[in-house]
Amino acid sequence: MASLPGDPITAVLEVRDLVKRYGANVALAGVDLEVQPGELVGLLGPNGAGKSTLVKVACGLVRPTSGAATICGAPAGSETARAAVGYLAELFRFPPWLKAAEVIELHQRLSGSSGGAGETHDLLELVGLGRVKDRRVDAMSKGMQQRLGIAQALVGSPQLLMLDEPTSALDPAGRASVRDILEEVRSRGISVLLNSHLLSEVELVCDRVVILSRGEVIAQGSPHELSSERGVEIDTGSGVRKWADATRADIPRLVAALVADGVEVFGVRSVKPTLEDFYIEAVKEEAG
Ligand SMILES: Nc1ncnc2c1ncn2[C@@H]1O[C@H](COP(=O)(O)OP(=O)(O)OP(=O)(O)O)[C@@H](O)[C@H]1O
Ligand SMILES: [Mg+2]
Repeated sequence: MASLPGDPITAVLEVRDLVKRYGANVALAGVDLEVQPGELVGLLGPNGAGKSTLVKVACGLVRPTSGAATICGAPAGSETARAAVGYLAELFRFPPWLKAAEVIELHQRLSGSSGGAGETHDLLELVGLGRVKDRRVDAMSKGMQQRLGIAQALVGSPQLLMLDEPTSALDPAGRASVRDILEEVRSRGISVLLNSHLLSEVELVCDRVVILSRGEVIAQGSPHELSSERGVEIDTGSGVRKWADATRADIPRLVAALVADGVEVFGVRSVKPTLEDFYIEAVKEEAG
């Protein structure tokens, strides 16, 4: 149903109190998460944290033990929800004998997309494979196969693209090209949920990150919020001195006090941790 002016915006992905147990093993322990229209969200967490399980529930591939996931308001796994998602699995393999364009055509048939040759052309151009549309999968580099995987996930014009570690096997140039593709996807108004271990990557491209650990959300925010400045370091004649809770605004007062005490000051910096620093601290605290 079309939304009316004044209606609350429906989240593209909404996950509420989601629990998934495999026997005694708890993969998701009550997760709440939203992806808004046009948002690019990074899902981070240690191995086994539950990232892939969450994405599989959202795709309708795994049935939750309790809780709910909806795609544009429709229950995950329903026909409406499945039509609105595109998915690239963590470890995917395409038939090696198929050509690039044939992989897209196969997925058009599987998903019932009516996009035809125009969609195939557009998607291969989008991922930079327009000139190798007749190349077989087994003659493609890993980077090309990964980009073909993203094109496949975009068949049928989904509103939410879910990519499970799309850059982990790629060289720096390959990762940069996937980043460019994601920017283009976002500019088309498609939301993205990106599972990744490459934090510098996520920091560059994501509007928001959600950190999962042992099946629970332990932190979330924009990369900027999570890596905002923490502490001041001053190089003095007797070594580096640190003020963990100080900010840039405290620097003149700290330097004046040191100088008044006769301390020589050689350099001053406010410390800005990277997303990786924040992540490692958050996960360490959680592990106790
Ligand atoms: N089909 C399954 N049967 C039993 N346990 C499973 C199954 N799938 C996942 N698990 C368990 O659920 C937990 C979460 O796994 P999941 O694959 O979601 O983690 P992940 O965050 O994607 O990890 P990684 O970073 O290694 O990909 C793990 O303990 C895993 O062993
Ligand atoms: Mg995984």
